[in-house]
Amino acid sequence: MSSNFEIIQKDAAGRIGRLTTPHGVVETPTIMPVINPNIQTIKPSEMRDFGAEILITNSYIIYRKDELREKALKDGLHSLLDFDGPIMTDSGSFQLSVYGEVEVTNEQIIDFQQKIGTDIGVPLDIPTPPDVPRSRAESELETTIERLAQARELVKDGMLLAGPVQGSTYPDLRERCARELSELNFDVYPFGAVVPMMESYRYADLVDAIVSAKKGLDPTAPVHLFGAGHPMMFALAVALGCDLFDSAAYALYAKDGRYMTSHGTYHIENLHYLPCSCPVCVKHTADELNNAEDRVELLARHNLYVTFEEMRLVKQSIKEGNLLELVELRCRAHPRLLEGLKQAYKHSDWLEQCDPASKSTFFYCGPESADRPEVLRFSNRLERLTIKGTAIIRTNPTKRDSEYDNLLTFKPPFGAYPVELGEVYPFNAEVVATPDHEVLGRALENTIRLIELNPDAEFTFIRKGELEHPLFDKLAGIANVVDNRGQE
Ligand code: GUN
Ligand code: ZN
Repeated sequence: MSSNFEIIQKDAAGRIGRLTTPHGVVETPTIMPVINPNIQTIKPSEMRDFGAEILITNSYIIYRKDELREKALKDGLHSLLDFDGPIMTDSGSFQLSVYGEVEVTNEQIIDFQQKIGTDIGVPLDIPTPPDVPRSRAESELETTIERLAQARELVKDGMLLAGPVQGSTYPDLRERCARELSELNFDVYPFGAVVPMMESYRYADLVDAIVSAKKGLDPTAPVHLFGAGHPMMFALAVALGCDLFDSAAYALYAKDGRYMTSHGTYHIENLHYLPCSCPVCVKHTADELNNAEDRVELLARHNLYVTFEEMRLVKQSIKEGNLLELVELRCRAHPRLLEGLKQAYKHSDWLEQCDPASKSTFFYCGPESADRPEVLRFSNRLERLTIKGTAIIRTNPTKRDSEYDNLLTFKPPFGAYPVELGEVYPFNAEVVATPDHEVLGRALENTIRLIELNPDAEFTFIRKGELEHPLFDKLAGIANVVDNRGQE
């Protein structure tokens, strides 16, 4: 159990939380700008102006360089960076994954992080990349867990300790790792080695990595998605239960002339207009920004502004209970993100357990909405609806409603439900008048099941003439299906 994390509000598996660190409380979800201790285009002391509440830097880079190491040991990390809020430090594992080795042991880097006054320290885990043979994933995982256990023994108070979840692209290893780490009681659980998945747009695999790790954790534990800094995927990752993000992307993208938006990236050379009103974009034309002497810094600033803007929108969506609508919107920005959304909804049974029973109006956003946890919840609860006598199922009230014992509304993607529930979440959904094929199918499946669950009742289904679906034939076999013309 993690007592330094308090959950304030939930939506899907996402939440607004408060993480208490030695240097203060952080509201999550939030993004930690990555500070390079060697080069700082934007000073750490300025980061609060963008919305940053917590920073992340690399203790291994500090450790390796005499000048930085001595200053950090003497004056502390917060003085070195000139930032008095919470700072997380990584361990050198990323360098390990890129160069194959590091000149530091787990014990040394944990000791160093404690000595320089880090708020959240990270052991020297092994970031096993995607698609490696299972034997390698298993043996590296074993080493990671040993090092994490050792770190847990070494850190008793003060610094919070992160326990990175590894397991490559093996969901069962991710889940097992998370379960074993939970026993050791870490303060934050980063999900590791996901950067290669994000770089190659493998969002469906990313979704599986997140969900499998989440399943092994206590739902109240704070989660960090290591290396996730593109705003277009914040909504999706937050909806799956990630609380902390870190972004080196704002600076790395800027170096390559890349301009971030919440729905993708432009190369600044291709922009004729600036689709943003941040302080950088209101002061420059696209051409001026492209040709500016300080183009890299200006782009980094813009990238940070849109990054925090998107996170605020995600948080507002949690407050309003429409995070999944934002996820569905954002995931339409790229087909690979859409694959991530579809994969996320394959886990709707898990999402459903986290999702609040009541929130703001369900908005239909497209065929994927048929797989939302709320729709699954209704399907799972059809057994609870007992219908006796005669029943009419129709889209809108009809003249003959009074002739029936039961009135049911037919509304895709749900199906048929008693009219009394019409104003209740999620049946008060805003939907399209002409449902997509998949969505009509889901609604007809549910309707057929409801009829089959109540074999003694007599059902009349008023079919709107324009609706076509092969399941209407099956429905006609168990109910009296009537064309709506002349009925309304
Ligand atoms: N930075 C990006 N990925 C990782 C990871 O898996 N582990 C650590 N420690 N740092 C990372
Ligand atoms: Zn801008």
